[in-house]
Amino acid sequence: MRKKIVAGNWKMNKTLDEAVALVSEVVNMIKDEVTSDVQVVLCPPALYLTTLKPYLEGQSRIALGAQNCHEKASGAYTGEISAPMLKSINVSHVILGHSERRQYFGETNAQLAAKVDSALASGLTPIFCCGESLEQRESEVHLDFVRTQLTESLFHLSPEQFANIVIAYEPIWAIGTGLTATSAQAQEMHEILRQHIASHYGQEVADNTSILYGGSANEKNAEELFAQPDVDGGLIGGASLKSREFTIVVKANK
Ligand code: G3H
Repeated sequence: MRKKIVAGNWKMNKTLDEAVALVSEVVNMIKDEVTSDVQVVLCPPALYLTTLKPYLEGQSRIALGAQNCHEKASGAYTGEISAPMLKSINVSHVILGHSERRQYFGETNAQLAAKVDSALASGLTPIFCCGESLEQRESEVHLDFVRTQLTESLFHLSPEQFANIVIAYEPIWAIGTGLTATSAQAQEMHEILRQHIASHYGQEVADNTSILYGGSANEKNAEELFAQPDVDGGLIGGASLKSREFTIVVKANK
């Protein structure tokens, strides 16, 4: 069975003191929910990963993820961070292909394929983001667009490699806008994505792939979104910056 996952993408937010406080609060609030089988992944700015790691000691249900990595393992790439570096500090997950990376840093499907390869080679679990713009949805090319994102960045992987991928569907028009996809819109796209995975890897691989929803998910709408049969959790931005709200979102993934 596929995993339920709630990941918090802090993006470029929090000072070090604030980051330590947020992690401490989240650990305290979540650890009481011992019966839940939800995997939580906290993705703070890379700068804080080493400092925050000890705060998660003994918390098997709370993992640490990065928000990006470079496709090369090492070399003259000033300012960049590689997958082996993340692995060396015991980070387990890495968000790849977030729409903000695609939009502001020009990341392409081909480059993301290389990043996915590098992450997997280091034993990291990629949280691979996909999603369409409002214009694409309105002109009804959104299904093909998102399918192509998966095809071009992931479908070169073997079934064994693909088993380590987590997908996050994030419609760009819903990110940080307060405009959440309806649960029906989320379910429709998640189902399409699962079918697309099945068409290439077979039904069993597709059924075992966790597909998260992201885009203005919060304490009010998370339960309905997560209740959809093909929605296995969330990639949470704004609502992951407040411990109480994030904990409510985690608990909504039943
Ligand atoms: O990675 C997270 C997504 O971009 C969602 O962000 O929850 O602030 O809309 P948001």
